[in-house]
Amino acid sequence: MNNLSTPMSEPAIATPALAYRWSDALLTGDARMDDTHHEFAQQLDTLLATPPADQMPLYQAFVAHTVAHFAQEDRWMLATGFTASNCHTDQHNMILETMQAVVQHYQKGETDIINRMGEALAEWFGQHAIGMDAGLAQHLKSVGFDSATETLADPAAIRNVSVSGCGSISCS
Ligand SMILES: [Fe+2]
Ligand SMILES: [Fe+2]
Repeated sequence: MNNLSTPMSEPAIATPALAYRWSDALLTGDARMDDTHHEFAQQLDTLLATPPADQMPLYQAFVAHTVAHFAQEDRWMLATGFTASNCHTDQHNMILETMQAVVQHYQKGETDIINRMGEALAEWFGQHAIGMDAGLAQHLKSVGFDSATETLADPAAIRNVSVSGCGSISCS
């Protein structure tokens, strides 16, 4: 007769694999920005699917990609009337600082920290993409900025524009 209270008879519970899945709900309407965001999502997914012991090289590449991703948006903001200090750029800087600090923690033996950062980024990114980034994409369109060539159809269109907020509904 089976003893149902014996823990030894219970099957092992598998740890669910971590993942990040792209959703078209994240599209901002700016093709170049969306390409960069697809890459971000892909790299995050690969990172989360990798065992902690092998994550560091991928994480370093992910940080480098994020530096370029944020610099691209910051550059577009400056080119279209945002002030250098605005809340969208501030948020980029804060996220990057946190991402960079993770490297030291990992090297000191906190090897689960990349997964924790990855999960936090997965949660943060959705909000950021549909809020600040989508707002920026809308702003670029409204002033006639082509993100593929990084040129303005009519530079006079932003002569009197000075944006210190985010230019989006989530933070203005
Ligand atoms: Fe972005
Ligand atoms: Fe952004």
